[in-house]
Amino acid sequence: MKHTLRAILVASGLIAPLYAQSIQSDNQADKVKIELGRKLFYDADLSINGTMSCATCHEQRRAFTDGNKVHPGALDDPGKRNVPALANVGSYKNLTWAHNHLSGLAEQSLMPIRGTDPIEMGMSTHEEEIGKRLSQNECYRKMFTIAFSEEKGSINLSTVSRALESFEKTFISNDSLYDQKIKSNQPLPTKESEAGKKLFFGAAKCNSCHSAPLFSDDDFHQVQPQTQAANPLMKDNGLSDVTGNLKDKNAFRTPSLRNAALTSPYWHDGRAKTLSEAIRKHDLKMNQTLSDRDIAKLIAFIDTLSDISFVNNPKYTKPSKECPY
Ligand code: HEC
Ligand code: HEC
Repeated sequence: MKHTLRAILVASGLIAPLYAQSIQSDNQADKVKIELGRKLFYDADLSINGTMSCATCHEQRRAFTDGNKVHPGALDDPGKRNVPALANVGSYKNLTWAHNHLSGLAEQSLMPIRGTDPIEMGMSTHEEEIGKRLSQNECYRKMFTIAFSEEKGSINLSTVSRALESFEKTFISNDSLYDQKIKSNQPLPTKESEAGKKLFFGAAKCNSCHSAPLFSDDDFHQVQPQTQAANPLMKDNGLSDVTGNLKDKNAFRTPSLRNAALTSPYWHDGRAKTLSEAIRKHDLKMNQTLSDRDIAKLIAFIDTLSDISFVNNPKYTKPSKECPY
């Protein structure tokens, strides 16, 4: 766990958190890449049978989660993990619940499209189909030509995934009540939430993993109860399934608590329905010894991390069918 001076200053409310800035580019190709990514994010043609888009599992109104424990794939393969929120996803080095060498959002997007563990959008062995399908649409042809002129507008998995990445990098959530009050140097509006904030950054030490400003340290931890019920459908050992290293067994990346009030159920397997259960389930002495009053305060604080302008931002909604070009 890293305690940089910045983190300490942010935690104590002395400086306002900084965020990756959204891409403010005047470059036409970059702008079109973002619009293209948005169109693709909502396009079910990226799935084998045309039934599933990224947004099927990542709904904006739930901070890009889906409200289910796990979500079955397009061919009804059972889901393996809970759908994570996508706020500030461009700021992470490690992506997904337990992976430490994905190169970025473009590579990550290929996992749902053509992954087989589990099968989500079902395009493995049908990869060239995506280019064929999208090329039939005149609007896509125009937009890919502007966005990827150096590749002559080629529509393939590589250009598709880079456009998705450009769109996802605009998912910036930094306007919650907590952010507003920090920026104006004011306390939170209720005694309960202010007490929760003190606990979170102080005695309860939540900030050591759920570190501000992301409310995740982007690192892996084992916080499983010893008596963990194995997922009956699939084995999931967390990070060790990727690294092969036993010491990573059951380690998962700390999930961000931004917008957590909107993203039930919780944990990598959706085992916790409520925030209170989610907090209690850590196999940490601290979390076990918190009183019900403490938990209520912490939840009042977590509620102030909901960013209503993020979940209502018209820039992330399903784009109209009309072609802007
Ligand atoms: C069937 C549901 C489903 C679909 C469809 C889906 N996702 Fe996901 N997404 C998930 C799940 C589950 C995870 C967590 C996977 C894991 O940890 O192994 C995830 C993880 C992610 C992450 C990592 C987030 C983080 O915080 O590290 C990103 C980014 C993402 N998805 C983007 C996309 C994009 C882009 C698409 C469309 C190409 C898409 N997803 C389609 C369920 C889905
Ligand atoms: C040692 C690091 C660590 C500490 C300390 C910690 N957490 Fe966590 N927390 C995690 C990890 C890792 C997960 C995900 C576990 C999993 O899914 O297997 C998690 C999950 C959660 C979740 C569920 C979020 C979601 O989207 O699924 C909540 C809520 C939460 N923690 C709140 C807290 C609070 C409040 C505290 C302080 C009392 C705290 N945590 C202390 C690492 C930590």
